[in-house]
Amino acid sequence: MGVNTEGISCCFDDESKRMLKDYRKDGLDDTSRVVADALGSWDLPGSSILELGCGIGALSLDLLKKGAASVRGLDLSPEMIQLARSLAAEAGVTERVSFERGDGAVADLPNSDVVILDKVLCCYPDATALVEKSSAAARRYYVFSLPNDKRGVTRFLRLFLPLQAIFFRRNSFRFFIHSTRQIEERLKTKGFTPVFESAVGWIWSVFIFVAPGAA
Ligand SMILES: C[S@@+](CC[C@H](N)C(=O)[O-])C[C@H]1O[C@@H](n2cnc3c(N)ncnc32)[C@H](O)[C@@H]1O
Repeated sequence: MGVNTEGISCCFDDESKRMLKDYRKDGLDDTSRVVADALGSWDLPGSSILELGCGIGALSLDLLKKGAASVRGLDLSPEMIQLARSLAAEAGVTERVSFERGDGAVADLPNSDVVILDKVLCCYPDATALVEKSSAAARRYYVFSLPNDKRGVTRFLRLFLPLQAIFFRRNSFRFFIHSTRQIEERLKTKGFTPVFESAVGWIWSVFIFVAPGAA
């Protein structure tokens, strides 16, 4: 049986306007800024971006400004997708982007130079399915951010998991602690090479891998 994504969609529908407001005030958040700076300093021009869990599309739109050719964004939240389309129209780049509602673990994904999941795996129960599906679409770089096992923060965050039933009592959204070590090992087994890892604040880390066969 597939994952029930109702809780994710409605939690992030509720969050979407706040995320847009924060973005208009402060620009990209910290993990997205680290991803944009790392990719922007490499060979981004002309590349295709696939962002799963794109939210309001802020990171993808920034990568277009940095030289990427096209963006395909997928998110489970219809409100996020609406706002991403509006931001793309505002930026005058609608012909280079496509933002659609979809589940990155089950949708047909186009092979793309860069595949990004920024603060997404922790919202989805079946990280293995999402990583397997999304990494298979990466031609050059595979990028994700997640609380990092190696920093011990996940042991601390685990203490709060039972409290989610209280925090999120109005919907069925849950936060998941997935092992970054296991994800890294799985990617290495598939021929991916780690090229970048950066701690962002005390919870998040950004990981970038080069796809098998990419220069
Ligand atoms: C914490 S938000 C991050 C949004 C954006 N990446 C950012 O950094 O601003 C997580 C987003 O991932 C989306 N999401 C979670 N699991 C997903 C999946 N399997 N496929 C597509 N979107 C997903 C949620 O709907 C939500 O908008």
